[in-house]
Amino acid sequence: MQKVKGTYDVLPQHSSQWLFLEQHIHQIMKKHHISYVRTPVFEYYDVFHRQTEASDMVTKETYDFDDRGGRKITLRPEGTAGVIRSIVENKLITPNQILKTYYLGANYRYERPQKGRYREFYQTGIEMIGEKDAMLDAELIQIAYELISKLGIQHIVVKLNHLGDVNSREAYKDALKAFLEPLKDQLSDESKNRLTTNPLRILDSKIPSDQALLKDAPHFASYISDEDKVYFKEILEILTKYNIPFEVDEKLVRGLDYYSHVVFEVQTQIEGFGSQNALGGGGRYDNLVSELGGPDVSGIGFALGLERLLLACELQDISFDDVNNIEVSVLHLDKHVKKEAYEVYKFLLEHQIKADFDFSNKAFKTQLKNAIQSNIPYVIIIGEEEVSNKTVQIKNLNTQTQETIMQDEILNYMNKK
Ligand code: HAM
Repeated sequence: MQKVKGTYDVLPQHSSQWLFLEQHIHQIMKKHHISYVRTPVFEYYDVFHRQTEASDMVTKETYDFDDRGGRKITLRPEGTAGVIRSIVENKLITPNQILKTYYLGANYRYERPQKGRYREFYQTGIEMIGEKDAMLDAELIQIAYELISKLGIQHIVVKLNHLGDVNSREAYKDALKAFLEPLKDQLSDESKNRLTTNPLRILDSKIPSDQALLKDAPHFASYISDEDKVYFKEILEILTKYNIPFEVDEKLVRGLDYYSHVVFEVQTQIEGFGSQNALGGGGRYDNLVSELGGPDVSGIGFALGLERLLLACELQDISFDDVNNIEVSVLHLDKHVKKEAYEVYKFLLEHQIKADFDFSNKAFKTQLKNAIQSNIPYVIIIGEEEVSNKTVQIKNLNTQTQETIMQDEILNYMNKK
């Protein structure tokens, strides 16, 4: 049996990194008083397949199926729509209050797997609903940046753009189309298709010949209202004040269709990352809440890819506090004293010492070999003599020194070492 293409297993030797990352995320969210929400990994098809969403993600990449009751179901390709569905269904939006929620979980997209791109992948994200405010937008971007930078990841930059409101976006789309139409034959096949389906996505084509054609294309910024320009400027001023490295990128449009106004991505410039260099991204949405049956309120959110965060850490040699690291293993010299050794082990665990116990009935030598192979720094050895004298042997496997101490001194010893 083999795993499904585009999936991976988190094996015991890597799981501590995942646990560390998840704890890191929960801590930062708690600090900012953002509440955790958990929604199902599958939703009714319509939650994601909305009329206004013609993105590749929804039209080409979702896992859709009928359940045994004939209901049309979709595995979530992203967190936002399901979270909004839940917020609306549970009537959590109240006037005069900003709702701040975060989530962490698996998503499913039928994409071509490559480095940093999987068919099952994990995201954490935030959605803030109920206010449209430049300070709030800047705050959200700062939290996204904090989640990444506090891991120690360097060489990151926030790329931002302003997509304007529906009217300015439509006007810009028309202008871009009119500009590209005469050049149509020179566009890549993908961009040619997009000219009719979603011309804005041509802007972030990765194909150099498309980018060359776009050199003289009309600028988004000239289609944005004065009010939006002031709003965007305020976001940039706050980011500058709080030392967030950013670049305005007029070609950043993002892959989902629900965005309007500000959009952003946190990208890494670490060497060896490959083309999937967005650690996360997000933006403001004006109509998503009402489309999903809620009130007419605006929201803003982002999501970060956990696999990409771990890849960035790995490439920059960032080591995690090993949450599983064992400080001491309790070994027994023969099986008559296994129960007494077990008691010592339970006592250590009760007192927050990261202890392990060798449950095997293997000879002492094998137990010791296993502890050495697992890089455990200390072993406590218990034989008949130790039991009758209420002592233990404690051995430092790095220095190979061994001493006998009273059982009631173990805690002192372990805490001092
Ligand atoms: P997204 O840009 O599609 O946005 O995904 C956010 C992040 O998820 C990406 O930057 C990347 O790190 C990670 N990611 C996406 N696809 C994959 C994949 N196939 N394999 C590994 N990682 C992946 C959203 O999902 C929006 N819901 C973000 C948002 C929240 N906007 C507003 N609120």
